[in-house]
Amino acid sequence: MLKRFSISLEEDLLEKFDYYIQDHQYNNRSEAIRDMIRKALVKKEWQANKQVMGVISLIFDHHHPKLQEKVTKAQHDFPHHIISSTHVHMDHNNCMEVIIARGKSREIQELANKLIALRGIRDGNLAMSSTGKALQ
Ligand code: NI
Repeated sequence: MLKRFSISLEEDLLEKFDYYIQDHQYNNRSEAIRDMIRKALVKKEWQANKQVMGVISLIFDHHHPKLQEKVTKAQHDFPHHIISSTHVHMDHNNCMEVIIARGKSREIQELANKLIALRGIRDGNLAMSSTGKALQ
């Protein structure tokens, strides 16, 4: 059920918020605020070491000695966390590996840190999301 409430804001802050809404292509203020609240709650779940979904993306040159092997080995250390991993051959040299994992936020962070720190990884990112159970 949707409930309504009103918010008081300084005019210039509201103006900035409206620019933000335009930039992020929200249809209206309510939608933007709902998203911000969800994000804040998800962040709280991470901090509380709750169950999260994580997406780890890695960019690397597959010619780098033994790197692919190390990327695979690191994932085998977390077999119960990894749901799926996809390898994309982007061009002659560069590969992207995207790993979807589920588990406690600290464990997912540990897995991501391990992978991103491997020598030869050109870019690595972790995006964590809620499992959705605590959010509507
Ligand atoms: Ni490749």
